[in-house]
Amino acid sequence: MAELNKIGVVGAGVMGRNIALFFAQTGHQVQLFDVHQDAVTSALDAVGQTLTRAVDKGRVSADDAAATKARLNAASKLADLADCDLVIEAIVERLDVKQTLFAQLEEVCGSEALLATNTSSLSVADIFANLTHKDRALGLHFFNPAHIMKLVEVITAPPVSQIRCDDLVIYLNQIGKTAIKVKDSPGFIVNRCARPFYGEALAILEEGDFSAHQIDAAMRAQGFRMGPFELIDLVGADINLAASETMAEAFDHHPRYYVFNQLKQQVEQGNLGGKSGKGFVTDEADATLAES
Ligand code: NAI
Repeated sequence: MAELNKIGVVGAGVMGRNIALFFAQTGHQVQLFDVHQDAVTSALDAVGQTLTRAVDKGRVSADDAAATKARLNAASKLADLADCDLVIEAIVERLDVKQTLFAQLEEVCGSEALLATNTSSLSVADIFANLTHKDRALGLHFFNPAHIMKLVEVITAPPVSQIRCDDLVIYLNQIGKTAIKVKDSPGFIVNRCARPFYGEALAILEEGDFSAHQIDAAMRAQGFRMGPFELIDLVGADINLAASETMAEAFDHHPRYYVFNQLKQQVEQGNLGGKSGKGFVTDEADATLAES
């Protein structure tokens, strides 16, 4: 495939910042853009801290960390992504907003540039429905944290070029990911399989017999790397709710995809998890008190 030297990432939140870090660590020049310029600043700060911790733990050399940082650039406007070979969107999980962004990207980027969405559960075909050159658009579903998690679901929706898609799968595997091609279906594979994990935990919580902390502790002790509520807090309750609602809608409100009130309430109250400082099991105020 044509070389991917320069990568654009749009959205500097939970996912975008670490997608940017992954590509910078693997030798690519990266342009990171967000509608909120301060989001880019805080993303680059956070990435800097991640690299510092990696150096302190001896996982990365100081030289490699400095080189990675030097490859990460803050874009102040979408046009700064004009010469990118691949642009990955990691913005809010809303179809209309994503469609508007891709219309803008189609104007800004070269006709050969690959355009990708990191959507968790929306239809990739719907996101790209209004593009003129749909053959270069696809889903690249990274997992959180994106610089560490190996899996990338590569979502193909006709008329994306299968050759470019296959080449991209090979390329991602070469640079350290485990990329697999998946069909454009609600929740793809992983988010669909994960629904019962979250759903059953939320059902137990709503029944009132156990707290989120107790449920998480039991699941961790049973060998799960994270409990369901820790995972919701890591992903963001807003993103988790959006995925829940998309799947409930897509499967005609089948009971398997029930949208739990506890999850809706968390979002209504702004308790989104790590990104807001408060969630099912995240409480930065408690953490501060414990430290003092
Ligand atoms: P986030 O809420 O942490 O970050 C989204 C960022 O996009 C914000 O900084 C916001 O200012 C920016 N933004 C919103 N509209 C924009 C626009 N029109 N142009 C430029 N920037 C814009 O969200 P998060 O969690 O990073 O999710 C982003 C996408 O990745 C969503 O589609 C989500 O479904 C998907 N995803 C999320 C995962 C997670 O664990 N949080 C995992 C895999 C996929």
